[in-house]
Amino acid sequence: MDHSYQYTSKTNSGNRPYVKTVGTGTLDPQHIKPRQFNVEYGETTEINKHWVQNDAFLSHWMNAYTLIIPDGEYFNTRIIRERIDEIQSDELKQRVKGLVAQELSHGKAHSKFLKLLESQGYNTSVFFAVYRFISFKILEPLSTDNTKLAFIVAVERINELISEITLKSKVLDDAPASAAILYKWHFAEEIEHKSVVFDLYHTLSGNRLLLAYSTMLCYLVNIGFLFLALIMLSIQDLSLFKKTFWLRGFRYFLTKEKFLWKVSVGCAQLLKKGFHPSQTDNLQLAQHILNGPVIQVAAEDGISPSTAE
Ligand SMILES: [Fe+2]
Ligand SMILES: [Fe+2]
Repeated sequence: MDHSYQYTSKTNSGNRPYVKTVGTGTLDPQHIKPRQFNVEYGETTEINKHWVQNDAFLSHWMNAYTLIIPDGEYFNTRIIRERIDEIQSDELKQRVKGLVAQELSHGKAHSKFLKLLESQGYNTSVFFAVYRFISFKILEPLSTDNTKLAFIVAVERINELISEITLKSKVLDDAPASAAILYKWHFAEEIEHKSVVFDLYHTLSGNRLLLAYSTMLCYLVNIGFLFLALIMLSIQDLSLFKKTFWLRGFRYFLTKEKFLWKVSVGCAQLLKKGFHPSQTDNLQLAQHILNGPVIQVAAEDGISPSTAE
């Protein structure tokens, strides 16, 4: 696959997206560092409405993920930052700071993809009204500091599972590179930092009953929001009413990618005594992405972290 076309000058406002990443390609779960990721989709025409394998279900499923990310990452980083001063270990503090930086850039990059979706005519206002009301007017005020942190442990586990399922399925491999790189980079970093919030929670609280409650809540809320976003998007281009959409959804959730089964089992693992996220065998999926040609070419593309946005 030729990746070279996407690295256009930022001043070139044609219909090709601008994408740059800065940072090492090496995965290092012990030293979490942000890779600066800068993407401008502009008025690109290369990302069509069904950009994942020309399939309405897969495209809207990936789009649904983008809808929940910016607010979700902002919430995660806001809550984690409030607890940073309580961390005694310098090593953990550095990993937490690295995670916060990574999550902030995930939110920023997905916001740009969200703008692209909105420029394609999708109305997201109903989704965001429901999502924000439930998250920030009901659930957050009812939660204690440790409940919120335990909730983020579960969010991170679900993020890791979505990353693993998507990267293993290779559904993004034929997608336009400027869209695929956003998801692949995000998924790779989710796998890289999968243990950080787990370690933070077990340092500051570790209450297993609270973790069980928050994991169940997070599972229902997050899967619920993804389904809501999927329906809101697919109803607008009428793909929701097509048999092929439902068939691919059925295969994705139950028989081929087995999303629901894998996420359910993965969340249950989180509650098992002795479990630690480092035990799951998926680092090579992230390493493969971070050492891949897109990240490498972008990182070697003549800009240094100090000059990047
Ligand atoms: Fe993230
Ligand atoms: Fe994360």
